[in-house]
Amino acid sequence: MTSTPLTRRTVLTGVLGLGAGALTLAACGTSERPVGAAAIAAADARRPRSGGTRAYRLVARPAQVGLGGRVVDTWTYGGALPGRLLRATAGDRVRVDFANQLPQETSVHWHGLGIRNDMDGVPHLTNQPVAPGGRFGFDFVVPDPGTYWFHPHTGLQLDRGLYAPFIIDDPREPGGHDAEWVVVLDDWTDGVGPSPEQIYSNLKRNGGSMGGMSMGDGPMGMGNPGNGARGMGGDGGDVAYPLYLVNGRPPTDPDVLRAKPGQRVRLRIINAAADTIFDVALAGHQLHVTHTDGRPVQPAAASSVRLGMGERYDAVVTLQDGVFPLVARPYGKPGLARALVRTANGSAPAAGLAPGELDGQPLTAMDLQAAPGSPLPRAEPATTQDVTLAGGMGSYVWTINGRTYDDTAPLTVHQGQTTRLRIRNASMMSHPLHVHGHTFQLGPAGGTGPRKDTVLVPPMAGLEVDLLADNPGRWMVHCHNAYHAEAGMMTRLDYLT
Ligand code: C2O
Ligand code: CU
Repeated sequence: MTSTPLTRRTVLTGVLGLGAGALTLAACGTSERPVGAAAIAAADARRPRSGGTRAYRLVARPAQVGLGGRVVDTWTYGGALPGRLLRATAGDRVRVDFANQLPQETSVHWHGLGIRNDMDGVPHLTNQPVAPGGRFGFDFVVPDPGTYWFHPHTGLQLDRGLYAPFIIDDPREPGGHDAEWVVVLDDWTDGVGPSPEQIYSNLKRNGGSMGGMSMGDGPMGMGNPGNGARGMGGDGGDVAYPLYLVNGRPPTDPDVLRAKPGQRVRLRIINAAADTIFDVALAGHQLHVTHTDGRPVQPAAASSVRLGMGERYDAVVTLQDGVFPLVARPYGKPGLARALVRTANGSAPAAGLAPGELDGQPLTAMDLQAAPGSPLPRAEPATTQDVTLAGGMGSYVWTINGRTYDDTAPLTVHQGQTTRLRIRNASMMSHPLHVHGHTFQLGPAGGTGPRKDTVLVPPMAGLEVDLLADNPGRWMVHCHNAYHAEAGMMTRLDYLT
């Protein structure tokens, strides 16, 4: 996502500046200076620590994965799809010895975690890219419990198999469930349809016109005008994928999640797709939503829940007796993804079955309230800043505040301030807007909505969120559609001294 060439100044302040300590270059358009390594270290020293350490090895490498009878070449973490789950307890120090065995440079970004800025894994901004054959030792304290994940922040690598869950446990959480299932959603093309790079160059070349995009060989060809046209350039996404996966498995060869009837199971649902919003439901069951983006909400019952790319929802279900599809339906696109929940013998319903639970309006973040005790500390916003999302299929240029990333005018904050972001979607597509290293709170004018790090902004919608500047550094703010981000829909949040 950061293959856009950066200005020389950005490179200097990002990579060299942080390493060298004091920064001397002025931030764009102001005499104030960006915060440096000392502020980042001081904020990190204030993070509560558990005293525990978790050490992991992580390898990005090419691998072959089986997708329902076909074997495809892709890029993975450790050969698995999704990559192996990482787990720690809030306050733990996490050390990840990362090795890049890909033929390209890469990066690892810890999505949603409020960790120290110089471990955030954004190449040329917070860290150096990791060269082919290179390594990097990540070392950070994980402050907040919840459901997170990680992925590269380099070009379109996220649309290959490079993603994995990261769960931070809360030692004080009562739990109250018998089991936990992590449910990772993805849209898949690698080795089945065109490569992410081919898709991107077709989008750039043809924009909304379908002519040049009918190149998939899957059952639902990439951009096939017959069944893909509604999705393409509609409000759901730009790309009709040949496959949609739950936990790395297509609907014809689903992951089987087993438990006993009457058990309560916590689902941790993660949308790791590049261009697909999913509506998720478990046939014959109600979801009791308890968290979004790792943060607790006032529990809410729902038949289905909608996840933009990068969003997470946790929900508890009390299991019935039988075999039930857990279905993720791509919004505005044909096809579906599923796993099977099995609490008894019996045969599985047809792979294409969409349960009736998907018929109504899905729950979104707008329907939720922060749990008592979890809202951001209330403070009058010191500043209000616009975040206007725009662009279209015509030229396939996507912008924030009228600019692409190479030309961006960053949002700015001072540490300790609250800033209000006035998010406006001036386009006909939905965009999941993501802020690194922070949460913001939804709700009009400092309201009581959920705390999130990624919010799905519907077409032409407006939304105000409050963000507390409690984690100094320079952070990405971007659309979590990998193709939109690549086409420019990214900016930064810079702390100034
Ligand atoms: Cu999921 Cu910029 O990140
Ligand atoms: Cu977008």
